[in-house]
Amino acid sequence: MVVKTLQDLSTLVGLSKRRGFVFQSSEIYGGLGSCWDYGPLGSLMKLNVKRAWWNTMTRRSDIVGLDAAILMHPMVWKASGHVDGFSDPLVDCKDCKTRFRADNTESYIEHKKCPNCGSKNLSEERNFNLMFKTTMGPLEDSASVVYLRPETAQGHFVNFLNCQQSSRYKIPFGIAAIGKSFRNEITPGNFIFRTREFEQMEMQYFVKPGTDEEFFNEWKERRFAFYQKYGIKKENLKFKPHEKLAHYAKAAVDIEYKFPMGFSELEGIHNRGDFDLSQHAKFSGKSLDYFNEATKEKFLPYVIETAVGCDRLFLAFMCDAYREEVTTTTDEAGKTSEDIRVVLGLHPEIAPIKVCVLPLSKKEELTIPAMKIRDQLAEEFDVQYDETASIGKRYRRQDEIGTPYCVTVDFETANDGSVTVRHRDKMTQDRVKITELNAYVASGLRNF
Ligand code: GAP
Repeated sequence: MVVKTLQDLSTLVGLSKRRGFVFQSSEIYGGLGSCWDYGPLGSLMKLNVKRAWWNTMTRRSDIVGLDAAILMHPMVWKASGHVDGFSDPLVDCKDCKTRFRADNTESYIEHKKCPNCGSKNLSEERNFNLMFKTTMGPLEDSASVVYLRPETAQGHFVNFLNCQQSSRYKIPFGIAAIGKSFRNEITPGNFIFRTREFEQMEMQYFVKPGTDEEFFNEWKERRFAFYQKYGIKKENLKFKPHEKLAHYAKAAVDIEYKFPMGFSELEGIHNRGDFDLSQHAKFSGKSLDYFNEATKEKFLPYVIETAVGCDRLFLAFMCDAYREEVTTTTDEAGKTSEDIRVVLGLHPEIAPIKVCVLPLSKKEELTIPAMKIRDQLAEEFDVQYDETASIGKRYRRQDEIGTPYCVTVDFETANDGSVTVRHRDKMTQDRVKITELNAYVASGLRNF
């Protein structure tokens, strides 16, 4: 058997649409640029991705959760530097009308040429702010402008004292949040890798100045370990230190994943110093100093930030999990044929469906008990039920969506009160009592 990994994103785009993971937004109207909808399986899997991150963060004794509003006071974005600095340099080709980024388009950087038609008839570089603007209230004037947040992080900074004081945590402590962010990206693409509407999972860890380097290194290692824990292959991950630091950063490193288009940023880890808290203190006129009652110390904390896109991580999980197991057989006449088993080898916590129930035939004698077993399993797990096509085909359907276990109800089930449970990766089969099935699956998922 030969095992092939994912070679190009289009394979995944096709599978995602066919099996209900991800659909183009507003597809029947021709789609909306770089916006995507998560379907029946995708929405389940996305919740699992978020749960894995959220539990990893907030089950620690030093991190609290936050769910901040998308719309924030416009001064937040002035203080953060987004109004003045969150922009990309943009150039228009006057001949073919292509619009591209001046700072990462090779033909432009090297030869001042349009990347599409090669023309030199180009506009000046103009800075294009990536924030989406809207207006709040009935009047559409400049006084009512608000922005769709381009990152969740600012919610953490403006709520720093609210969270710290209400939870009575001492520094070092962190705030974790998951939420939608919006960026009017000039060059979105690569499926859900770079989109205009996306979800971020960010954590800001507030530390005493002077301890920031130590915590920066600690969080780098923790975040790298997180991806391996959830099954991403080590050889597909690497650190990439930033050569050019953002205006707010004292140190920055990306964790990159080897997507089909090459190693690209998955998560950013920054030492932001006290830039954000001092900016908000300055712009709001409110002190954001931390005060330790016990030691009587007062200071403005430094922040270590870990920030990953949920959609991008979803994509990394899909890419890493995809495999084709190709078995070539030769018959007596010497004719060879290939059998391909497509498997999404997702970590069981990430897989959208944990177990599928399959009656061996469509006869009521099997479908009625099979539905009962489905209901019994559904009390604890996300399950599917499938009674159409041959059992082999049905197993393959589940392999392709990453279902760890398939449960087959057969003609013996009524006599021995047992079912056959098949393991996605090993393809081994166990006979399990229906009364012990939930415990078998629960323990199997933990030790998959
Ligand atoms: N608060 C810091 C911050 O937002 P960032 O590097 O701009 O940093 C963090 O974003 C993460 O959010 C990225 O590593 C990426 O995973 C995700 N992300 C950023 N822009 C994105 C986009 N347009 N589409 C999908 N994910 C995006």
